[in-house]
Amino acid sequence: MKEVVVLVGSGSIGQAIARRVGAGKKIILGDLKISAANDAAKILENAGFETSTVEVDISSRESILNLIEHAKKFGEIKNLINAAGVSPSQASVEKILQVDLYGTAVLLEEFGKIISEGGSGVIISSQSGHRLHALTEEENFLLATTPTEKLLEIDFLKKISDTLKAYQFAKRGNVLRVMYEATKWGKRNATINSISPGIIITPLANDELHGPRGEGYRKMLEKSPAKRAGTPDEVGDLAEFLMSSRGKFISGADFLIDGGTTASYFFGDLQYLKKTH
Ligand SMILES: NC(=O)c1ccc[n+]([C@@H]2O[C@H](COP(=O)([O-])OP(=O)(O)OC[C@H]3O[C@@H](n4cnc5c(N)ncnc54)[C@H](O)[C@@H]3O)[C@@H](O)[C@H]2O)c1
Repeated sequence: MKEVVVLVGSGSIGQAIARRVGAGKKIILGDLKISAANDAAKILENAGFETSTVEVDISSRESILNLIEHAKKFGEIKNLINAAGVSPSQASVEKILQVDLYGTAVLLEEFGKIISEGGSGVIISSQSGHRLHALTEEENFLLATTPTEKLLEIDFLKKISDTLKAYQFAKRGNVLRVMYEATKWGKRNATINSISPGIIITPLANDELHGPRGEGYRKMLEKSPAKRAGTPDEVGDLAEFLMSSRGKFISGADFLIDGGTTASYFFGDLQYLKKTH
């Protein structure tokens, strides 16, 4: 039996994190598209990692429980990485809330029940959650603590009509849910944190950069403090720290890694984006 790392969402960000925490462990690669998990497994196996793939839809509790059953066959689950998600240009309001908000909440809940003593996890949120207006104390409380099966019935979520708002609420919701769940994960001496990346170059972001909206994208990056997009490896380095023994005093926290873009959005050269975002 080995220590097990479960990665959900086998894209570039998830893989970068798995490479940093997965040596000598069994890495379970879950994805809605089994082909994405299999492709990632091939790359990782050729780099010396041990993997197993499984199809999973995080918007279904049954599917998450099936993932956990599969993972437990290989040993104790030491780490959870959630890098699965859908973006505002990929999915409807309902789908975004189901996958990014509800799915993440159920993952946190179910893995919180079985994560091994001293384990750790990271959830990939987004800078988009930081662009949402400030919520009231009650709204924060509801997003953090509403029982998962009632989460999508929250009144203010039902009123959302555009996909960017849905994504922003889902990602803010992730950060709040991580805080709530950290109190439970702590009972197993385990930590859970979220990372909110800015634009990170993945196949999807690359398509956007060279697609019809590419010019706007490139201008935004040029005007950001870092003057460039981020790389999956930079997110991986941060996640590695949070999930290692050096990160043991950090739990229920969110880390913005966006090259200063959010700072500039509120107070610098990127304030023009407020009109469109
Ligand atoms: N790339 C960026 O610029 C960026 C920036 C901020 C946040 N993020 C977040 O990072 C995460 C990973 O994004 P990425 O850029 O690596 O994208 P990606 O599309 O390469 O990876 C996401 C993976 O999630 C999978 N997935 C989608 N719905 C799923 C479901 N219901 N159940 C299981 N798997 C599902 C997809 O099949 C895909 O393989 C997402 O949550 C995204 O919102 C990305």
